[in-house]
Amino acid sequence: MSTDQRTFRRTVLDLGDVVLRPFGRSLDLPGGTVPALVAAAAEPLILAYTPLGTDDPAAAEAYLDRCDEAWAEGRTGAFAITDAADGTLRGNVALYWRDREDGLAMIGYWLLPAARGRGLATRAATAVARWGVETAAARRIEIAHAVGNEASCRVAERSGFPYEGTLRASYRHKGGEYFDEHLHARLAADPW
Ligand SMILES: CC(C)(COP(=O)(O)OP(=O)(O)OC[C@H]1O[C@@H](n2cnc3c(N)ncnc32)[C@H](O)[C@@H]1OP(=O)(O)O)[C@@H](O)C(=O)NCCC(=O)NCCS
Repeated sequence: MSTDQRTFRRTVLDLGDVVLRPFGRSLDLPGGTVPALVAAAAEPLILAYTPLGTDDPAAAEAYLDRCDEAWAEGRTGAFAITDAADGTLRGNVALYWRDREDGLAMIGYWLLPAARGRGLATRAATAVARWGVETAAARRIEIAHAVGNEASCRVAERSGFPYEGTLRASYRHKGGEYFDEHLHARLAADPW
């Protein structure tokens, strides 16, 4: 399969109550995309469990530039989950190649606290995974979450990514310590 086929192409995914829009400089969230990213990165669970790292405006701008570069190269599909009614940020889902030639991708997600507990991460992760399989020929998509992150474990299972095993000391936290992670994955042929 060619790299051209394994390309994440900038798109908008409409899920009804939320719309998934590409993260990048052209994303214009109410109140500003940069302040929204700085606020998100300060939320304790996002801080603990994701590499978002948009701690200040300069880091948020650099993140948006990286998203644009990755979209331009078809390497990463990074989406803002936005409210369909008022356009505000609800969270993020990002799909990126671990081995593009092999069709091996990884997905990650976070939600702002007000959007949690309603199955939104499950719906958004499923939609982005399906988009990756159907438009970019992703063969296998993995989710890795810190052992103890039960909400993420449930999202993975409910999105059709069964547990496959435990990765020891596989994720380096910003503080320097390492987490064990659960590995979950789904294959292109798995039913939706
Ligand atoms: C992980 C996260 C996206 C889940 O979002 P969510 O919309 O609340 O997920 P859901 O509403 O689909 O809930 C998932 C399940 O986890 C359960 N859950 C939620 N919080 C939980 C907790 N603290 N402990 C145990 N289970 C929990 C819910 O009850 C639900 O269970 P169910 O499937 O039996 O109904 C959200 O908690 C988050 O943004 N966390 C911080 C960032 C993060 O951890 N990202 C993932 C990195 S791998």
